[in-house]
Amino acid sequence: MNEKLWAGRFSKALDENANDYNASIRLDKRMYRQDIKGSIAHAAMLSHTGIVSPAEADAIISGLKSIYADMDSGALAADFACEDIHTFIEQELTRRIGEAGKRLHTARSRNDQVALDIRLTLRDEASEVVSLLKELISVLCTLSEAHAEVIMPGYTHMQRAQPITFGHQLMAYAYMFLRDIGRLNDAARRMNVCPLGSGALAGTTFPIDRFETARALGFDAPCENSLDGVSDRDFCVELACALSLVMTHLSRLSEEIILWCSWEFRFIELDDAYSTGSSIMPQKKNPDMAELTRGKTGRVNGNLITLLTMLKGLPLAYNKDMQEDKEAVFDSFDTVKLALTVCTPMLATMRINSDNMRAAAAKGFINATDCADYLTRKGLPFRSAYKAVGELVAYLMREGKTLESAVISDYRKFSDLFDEDVYEAINLDECVKKRISFGGTSPESVRKQAADVRSRLKEL
Ligand code: ARG
Repeated sequence: MNEKLWAGRFSKALDENANDYNASIRLDKRMYRQDIKGSIAHAAMLSHTGIVSPAEADAIISGLKSIYADMDSGALAADFACEDIHTFIEQELTRRIGEAGKRLHTARSRNDQVALDIRLTLRDEASEVVSLLKELISVLCTLSEAHAEVIMPGYTHMQRAQPITFGHQLMAYAYMFLRDIGRLNDAARRMNVCPLGSGALAGTTFPIDRFETARALGFDAPCENSLDGVSDRDFCVELACALSLVMTHLSRLSEEIILWCSWEFRFIELDDAYSTGSSIMPQKKNPDMAELTRGKTGRVNGNLITLLTMLKGLPLAYNKDMQEDKEAVFDSFDTVKLALTVCTPMLATMRINSDNMRAAAAKGFINATDCADYLTRKGLPFRSAYKAVGELVAYLMREGKTLESAVISDYRKFSDLFDEDVYEAINLDECVKKRISFGGTSPESVRKQAADVRSRLKEL
């Protein structure tokens, strides 16, 4: 076991199990780049403010850079006997450059150090997720444009409701994912204040320059209250919540994909590269990627509750409970990144069976609203038109007919406003083409939506 940072105060080594329990290096080693960048900014500031000599700061900075390069290349691996990545890097620095290494932690605590590292790490993670979401949205726009005229049944209560275009359905998801980007960016912006210099909790007696380190590390400002700086983890909760919504949206889309590739629907077929077979049933082609995405949403939601529960009883300032933040928030990021990496190409490569979508929309009375709108346009109040068409539908169902196969005398039983032009009004292509209201399902409107989303993506 390595010597502890606090060895002077203690007469006994930490129990082996307690040591393992206490350690976080297996999880926080992924923050080594951010930890080193933070230390470099801190060392430069210590030199500019005269707290350490320029020569010592130079030695510290070049030592840190060599550790960074060696960890990047794999020449140096984190030593799991150390408690955490901060301890490991400081120890390695002193091993490499000697006494000067022991000056790095002047005017700093692991409490502000870890609060800094996690912010820097999550800032990078959030921007990775934003890029992945942009790719997904652009695939959805491409699919929507290509299938702007493909007719499918639109559902409410999982019952055929009104005909819509497949492009319209997909653009709905594009807007959800666009809002997800907004939420991630908002959370990242609020998180972008620098806790470095908060010290253990109360600030420091050294004449540090918190504005210099904040600027050097790309923060908008130093955080205004040192107690808040070391004990705030609400940015983890905000990001975990934004990620839960990404998964929720992916999960809803996955659920549709699963339905759509069932033999009952056969609206789409997934590429073999994103499907699996069965060990016993030779005919099977399973949408495992979509199912896993739906399933993993539970984990990501769990992580959000983990974070909220971990925080809710904590008095100020730092408490070791907070070490649990990383496992939860990193798992949410890893899960979302994996899900997006698989789902985007799965969608891009799926085959669309437009004939089956249209055939599903043609069966039944999905155009009944258009039939009522037809009577309304002829002067009948909508409520009366609704009633007349309701009675017509009930009658046709008894007769085993549909709105398309009914003859004009069937129609006239319920209103003498019906004429031959009703067949055009209930034609599925007409039904969708006429829905040109802003945000509606017409191919024209779908193309506008795709263009709108593409231009917003460019601004992000
Ligand atoms: N591994 C710790 C964490 O992730 C670092 C901070 C430790 N600070 C302390 N005073 N024990 O929260």
